Amino acid sequence: MNTSPDFDTDPTRLAQPFPADFTWGFAASAYQIEGAATEDGRGPSIWDTFARRPGTIADGSTGDVACDHYHRYRDDARLMADLGARAYRFSVSWPRVIPGGVGAVNQRGLDFYQRLVDALLDAGVQPLINLFHWDLPQALQDRGGFANPEVVGWFTDYTSLVASNLGDRVKDWMTFNEPAVFAFIGHADGIHAPGLRDWPTAIRVADNELRAHAAAAQAIRGLIDGPKIGVAIDVNQVAPATDSDRDRRAAAQWSSARDAWFLDPLFGRGYPALGLEAHREAGHLDGVELATPPSGELDYLGLNYYRRDSVRARSDRAFDFEVGAMPGSEQTQMGWHVAPDGLRDVLIELNATYAPREIAITENGAAYPDTADANGLVHDEDRLSYLARHIGAAGEALAAGVPLKGYYVWSLLDNYEWSLGYSRRFGVIRVDYDTQQRTPKDGARWYQRLIARG
Ligand code: FCB
Repeated sequence: MNTSPDFDTDPTRLAQPFPADFTWGFAASAYQIEGAATEDGRGPSIWDTFARRPGTIADGSTGDVACDHYHRYRDDARLMADLGARAYRFSVSWPRVIPGGVGAVNQRGLDFYQRLVDALLDAGVQPLINLFHWDLPQALQDRGGFANPEVVGWFTDYTSLVASNLGDRVKDWMTFNEPAVFAFIGHADGIHAPGLRDWPTAIRVADNELRAHAAAAQAIRGLIDGPKIGVAIDVNQVAPATDSDRDRRAAAQWSSARDAWFLDPLFGRGYPALGLEAHREAGHLDGVELATPPSGELDYLGLNYYRRDSVRARSDRAFDFEVGAMPGSEQTQMGWHVAPDGLRDVLIELNATYAPREIAITENGAAYPDTADANGLVHDEDRLSYLARHIGAAGEALAAGVPLKGYYVWSLLDNYEWSLGYSRRFGVIRVDYDTQQRTPKDGARWYQRLIARG
């Protein structure tokens, strides 16, 4: 859709504002790429269960095989190194290392992450470990999952296991990826695992995530020297669909009840007043008792940014609004409104509001309906242009004083896009799911030039 070259895609110029040691990386997550769902003692996660429920996944697929990264991690590490990556953000599958969620440790599962970390370090790529990318052990869901306050202890034990096994070589940690998506889309909207539709449960889940983060971060600090610990929060740009008072109120409500709902507590401010009011009015707090969660003590704030969300009120009632892309806007295959200036503005605003020690863009990228040519090559100009414009915007934020330290493309490989299955390709490397062959797309080659500063 975008054809006007009124923006810069020159990698040399775009790299200019970034310091030579800037962390250029790739991101992925366990369930989306590993496969090997029943191998070497891995236990089932809530995504294994959810994906098998009829009607939950657009193409009826599961992550059973995915990109077979469990067997191909060495090649994947080499591919990243070839592209010049400085870092790789991956997640540990909790049910692979503790199949029942608590109790018996699965050494073969831990060994996989040992090998992966070694392969990355050998290739000169710094690992960033994300401890939770939504694949909770099913055994724990059977005990109430993240709605059960005992999860704070379960998560801390699991974290301690991983940190004590990998902490000698891994300094960069992330406790949670997108706690809002997990809590709200998984427990209120029912679109992600575990597929519940109950707001008070979702609110309890969010609260326990914040508490689990704090406890786990403390555990990591007790186990390893000088770790950097963060959380990846998805903050897209929230804008009222029109200038009307109603839409403006709805947008403010949404951003407080969703984004600030996590950010405010993480920065020691407790739950935001506007969000509390909106959730209470909508009945989301019925039967829930909320105390102020402990602050997050973040060494860095991870920002996952994709789009601009426009908010249109349906009435004056709390939570009675629609959130989505402006009609007629430039959109990716996800139907997400492409808004690079939003990335710049969100970075500047987060910095002004919370003054985090550091910020890393822990996810940014786009799905487009790629096709491979006769030689298997993918000329993904749309993705390349998306990345170029967002990196340009990140450079502007950096120049404006935002303490931005890293940028991780979502994603290294085409992979399992949750309830959309394999129907959306976010990779800068194409995966042929029949042969598992990997082919860097033009976007990957462009990123490689950017990292190399042209
Ligand atoms: C984020 C998720 C990631 C991927 C991208 C497209 O919300 O963290 O796993 O699905 O969106």
